[in-house]
Amino acid sequence: MTDGVLEGTTSTGSTAGTGGWSQSLFAADDQWWRSAVIYQVYVRSFADGNGDGIGDLAGVRTRLQYLADLGVDAIWFTPWYLSPLADGGYDVADYRAIDPAFGSLGEAERLISEASTFGIRTIVDIVPNHVSDQHAWFQAALASEPGSPERARFWFRPGRGEDGNEMPNGWLSKFSGPAWTRTRNSDGTPGEWYLHLFSPEQPDLNWNHPDVRAEHEAILEFWFDRGVAGVRIDSAALLIKDPALPEIPAAPKPGQHPNTDRDELHEIYRRWRAVADSYPGTRILVGEIWIPDTERCAMYLRPDELHTAFNFDFLGRAWDAASMKASIDTTLAAHAPVGAPATWVLSNHDVTRPVTRYGQEDSSFAFATKRAGTPTDLDLGRRRARAAALLCAALPGSLYIYQGDELGLEEVQDLPPEQLQDPMYFRSAGSDPGRDGCRVPLPWAGTDSPFGFSPAGAMSEPWLPQPSHWAELTVETQERDPNSMLSLYRSMLRIRRSDPDLGDGHLEWRSSGPDVLAFARGERFICITNFSPVPIELPSGCLLLLASADASDGFLRSDASAWLRSEHSLTQGRGLRGPIEGGE
Ligand code: GLC
Ligand code: CA
Repeated sequence: MTDGVLEGTTSTGSTAGTGGWSQSLFAADDQWWRSAVIYQVYVRSFADGNGDGIGDLAGVRTRLQYLADLGVDAIWFTPWYLSPLADGGYDVADYRAIDPAFGSLGEAERLISEASTFGIRTIVDIVPNHVSDQHAWFQAALASEPGSPERARFWFRPGRGEDGNEMPNGWLSKFSGPAWTRTRNSDGTPGEWYLHLFSPEQPDLNWNHPDVRAEHEAILEFWFDRGVAGVRIDSAALLIKDPALPEIPAAPKPGQHPNTDRDELHEIYRRWRAVADSYPGTRILVGEIWIPDTERCAMYLRPDELHTAFNFDFLGRAWDAASMKASIDTTLAAHAPVGAPATWVLSNHDVTRPVTRYGQEDSSFAFATKRAGTPTDLDLGRRRARAAALLCAALPGSLYIYQGDELGLEEVQDLPPEQLQDPMYFRSAGSDPGRDGCRVPLPWAGTDSPFGFSPAGAMSEPWLPQPSHWAELTVETQERDPNSMLSLYRSMLRIRRSDPDLGDGHLEWRSSGPDVLAFARGERFICITNFSPVPIELPSGCLLLLASADASDGFLRSDASAWLRSEHSLTQGRGLRGPIEGGE
């Protein structure tokens, strides 16, 4: 098959040599985040510099040119701090240290500065809801008595029932099982319980405690001082708990759920915004706000709170025109009143890779329905993932790309059980396959594992095994193929960067029949996605800029998207000719 990639595939090169981060990048454009393309690096699985089979900062430093050629504006690094890795680094033992498996603080500083010479900003991940059980505060709390100031920074409670054998309340962990673990007293007798909304190695902090607030503001300053352009805030809607720790009501009032999306959170983020705004350039706050109500979600994006939040509603939608259009409309409508740009996210390190998802009969995503062994048509999934990439990149706002999606990697669903690491798998006793399948180390080059992930002659295998057929999906292979997923992503991001109609702004739907989504951006840009089982005719009077499948005969195939440039201004009354007509 020859895909209709009309753009050439030469690299964009870099803007190296512009000097230190603070002078160049931050002065460049204070609105950068409204249209930014942000690439998520899951450090453990991106590139291994020292050959121990674990991705690291040295590895990332050797791949900055790759990211510049791809055309990204910023990298979001998943947690790189000192951590026992009970939850892939989302269990932080020290926010001011880099885990030795990844490198050192000095190396992180060099990486931030080097990235900026490529025109790439750095976003770090802050995990405020909880710390590692190895964090000094939690260790001190365990070593202290019930009622002590050390314990007040967490949620320690006596158990219920005779002997305190029952948990303080019935809350469940997001990773399955109870959200409470019982401690032992120094004399070996059973002691108090502590709360963990995730794994027992991730005790929840008490955000009503002034130490917790002050410490996190200091952590923000620590990283802003080192030149980071923003922070991604993990589990941002969970920080505040009702101190009475009541059971979860069947239908909690908005803002009054005992542990999610509580109204008091907003004052925390207003403080954080003041910290971010006290720095030169625009330092952004990006919330991981995984709540179903898009209007509640948008409340975090009021002008004095967070800059943006991940749009998980869209990520959860099935490959279906009406459902995706509904999500786009709801998202844009919720963002408009607060003046914040939307974000478009197809995947991340927590969810099933789009190639796999879109190749399944039920292509929606929800943790609760995630199952291994679902029949998957990867060719179909890959076609749709290509189409979805163009659709998302054309929508108004900023764009997130999870590492490996630009290579069209699928979820690895047959990892040997003894190599799985995700607590989601273990705590659900295997009923949830966990998230390791989207965290397999990237294939860069060569015909055999480790596919250039580790340097030649490395002593250790990659920490998760790579499928042998990834030989066809390496960066090296895809760079040579103008029709590869990587070439599509590069062309897409190059057009997106140079076309003023794309990024932040508005969209206008064009009427297009039930199984087609078509919309215009600005004066002349049009994106069309065909969800129907049959090809559709592209409108005349348009230049085909890029397509996810061959459209050179003027027809857009099933499960494909095309980007077009109208010869006539779309805003001055001369609509399109052909099947996609006028405004809605
Ligand atoms: C977020 C992270 C996820 C982690 C959890 C607990 O959802 O994305 O990877 O397990 O928070 O920190
Ligand atoms: Ca390594």
